[in-house]
Amino acid sequence: MPGEPREVTDGYYFPVSPLLLFPRTRGKFGVYVKLNEQYRLYAHPDEPFSDDQRRKLYENGVTEVYVLGRQRRQFQNYLETHLGGVLDNDNLPMSERSEIFHSVSTSIMREAFETKLPVTLDKERFERIFQLVTASTRFLHKGGSLKSLAKLISHDYKTYSHCVQVFVFTSAILYSYGREDDFLVQAGMGAILHDIGKTLIPKEILNKPGSLSIREREMLEAHPVRGVALCAQVPLSQDALNVILFHHEAMDGSGYPTGLSGEAIPLAVRAASLANAYDRLTSEKPFAKALTPFEALSAMRGEMAGQFDQEALKRLVMVLSGAEVI
Ligand SMILES: [Fe+2]
Repeated sequence: MPGEPREVTDGYYFPVSPLLLFPRTRGKFGVYVKLNEQYRLYAHPDEPFSDDQRRKLYENGVTEVYVLGRQRRQFQNYLETHLGGVLDNDNLPMSERSEIFHSVSTSIMREAFETKLPVTLDKERFERIFQLVTASTRFLHKGGSLKSLAKLISHDYKTYSHCVQVFVFTSAILYSYGREDDFLVQAGMGAILHDIGKTLIPKEILNKPGSLSIREREMLEAHPVRGVALCAQVPLSQDALNVILFHHEAMDGSGYPTGLSGEAIPLAVRAASLANAYDRLTSEKPFAKALTPFEALSAMRGEMAGQFDQEALKRLVMVLSGAEVI
């Protein structure tokens, strides 16, 4: 009978908040409650969660329910589908929502970057990333989200976590300009996909310690153009494509691939290139030690200053100090 606890004795479980089980939705995982140190099946896989179940858990003071470790993947998929609702739910603690954003975004981007792409980014992968960016853009602008996210930021450089982090910082900088949601989502898409072209560059070049040969440098510096080519079949706006193509341009014209400079570089690109540089400098790489946030910002205001939009850089500093990163 639905809702009746059934005893289960084997398996490994992980705890989740009952607030994550949305009424009238279903997931392909069982939900367990712990009674007298025993896990008991509370809701069957594929059984829709009811308002009644949620109320009963609440009335009994249950703050954690459990999912089997081997159904983690199914639980992730469920969260991904309902991410907008989760992140908008102000009853859920910010720390919990940040963890969910972090885990869902990292897993989507890890898959996008580490499983072989077809010739171009396919519609299905694009759609998952678009849903992620749309569902999380509003969350990233909520007071306190960046502060709890900052604790989860990875300083161990991986292209996919770097892309998520560049999305987070770009979004925070651009939000301070009071731009509309559509623009923020498209700039966010550009930021999260900015290095997609690196999936086509050999790992030996990406991780090579020391200097690159001319040929290797050319291959590396082709990643923005190759990134745009990978996105040829999916509906990205010009703002998003600009971020992918121009994120290595510099205000003083010393960047690549076109040597564009100053105001000719669109605002979304200037924000993303700052976010990109900040995240790179504060990450540990095979060939370079991570700088602290303070050291990174000092370098960006000092010897690297010519590369960046100083007004946007001030906004990044404000965002980071608001999040108590510096
Ligand atoms: Fe890049």
